[in-house]
Amino acid sequence: MKLWLTDIAELHGLRSTLQVLRGNDLSNFPSIKEAWICIENERIVDYGSMQDWDQQNLDNSKVVSIKGSMVLPCWCDSHTHLVFAGSREQEMIYKIKGMGYAEIAAKGGGILSSARAVEESSEVALFEAAQIRLKKIIGWGTGAVEIKSGYGLSLENELKMLRVIQRLKNNSPIPIKATFLGAHAYPLAYRERKLAYIDLIVHEMIPAVAHEHLADYVDVFCEEGFFSLSDTRRIVEAALKFGMKPRLHVNQLTSSGGLQLAVELGAISADHLEMMTEEDISCIASSSTIATLLPTAAFFLRAPYPPARKLIEAGAAVAIASDFNPGSSPNGNMQHVVNMSCIQMKMTPEEAFQAATFQGACAMELQHEVGSIAKGKLANIIITKPIPSLAYIPYSFGENHIQDVVIRGRFLSEE
Ligand code: NIG
Ligand code: FE
Repeated sequence: MKLWLTDIAELHGLRSTLQVLRGNDLSNFPSIKEAWICIENERIVDYGSMQDWDQQNLDNSKVVSIKGSMVLPCWCDSHTHLVFAGSREQEMIYKIKGMGYAEIAAKGGGILSSARAVEESSEVALFEAAQIRLKKIIGWGTGAVEIKSGYGLSLENELKMLRVIQRLKNNSPIPIKATFLGAHAYPLAYRERKLAYIDLIVHEMIPAVAHEHLADYVDVFCEEGFFSLSDTRRIVEAALKFGMKPRLHVNQLTSSGGLQLAVELGAISADHLEMMTEEDISCIASSSTIATLLPTAAFFLRAPYPPARKLIEAGAAVAIASDFNPGSSPNGNMQHVVNMSCIQMKMTPEEAFQAATFQGACAMELQHEVGSIAKGKLANIIITKPIPSLAYIPYSFGENHIQDVVIRGRFLSEE
């Protein structure tokens, strides 16, 4: 049976090409006013203008008028850590009171506190908590997502996290990509013997993860005080042998060569990029690596925002993502990410919507399935409440502008 959505005030994000967009092309977010879209067998089969509506053959069809609403492709959130246990609001209070990173870590905060919570959590409990978060973000319009491990930090617990992501993949209606992030922080037991932890990642974790086919990608928190350039290179080269391509956390706290290494290693994406020199900007702009910016993490950490305008003007391929995690971005609502991209990073609404949909799909190598309105793609689409324009979403911040979400051709409200 065909599902037709008609009387769409404006159908946004039309794109049938699969090439990631760079520079000024980001602002081209094509649309049709007064439109219809037709869905069959989970996929978009056609769309057009209401002017030609009476020429359609409506045999075996269900027609739903969504007068006043806009339609756009679902968000493609290409950077999250949404499998975690517990929460860390106490850390936020410490920070409000002026405590620094080291002091918070000494009080048992930071990534290691999430690692303890994961260690104490069963696989079932982790899965159930993650599934609630996943359902929540789908309800906010996310139609494809990348999820990292990285709160395990031991062979057993990294595998536990990745098995949870695998179960989410098997049970979720939206495409999920899994990333192995064993190199997120040094566990306490390895503080004084860091090389031994890299050896553990390279010789035990990566082969075990590959053996169970648990990860599509490898990630490293490449940063001064975390994992060095040479650690990062070793880990990525070991993972590449098993077919896990890199996507890396770089230039979050310092500009110290992480970005250049990501480009040299052919990373799909270099993520964060709060600390960028002019050389860093031209390096990524002239590479095939996507610059994934995470403005809600910069907001939450009171860090400088990534230089989105300069990156776009230099011709970089920019994506935006939520970084949903308990430490630096405890929210996965992409509407906030779009808002902050516009207000704080001065992206135009068209650029932000493009970066949150098609560009995110490219950063997960899923652009043949999701990320735009195109014939043959999965029917993962957002139906907005009646709004005057798409720009109203980032403008009227803090509100939920989504009326319904369609995933694989099914209304979430009917599930
Ligand atoms: O992407 N920078 C590294 N990792 C996370 C934060 C992790 C945490 O604090 O739990 C990030 O911001
Ligand atoms: Fe992250």
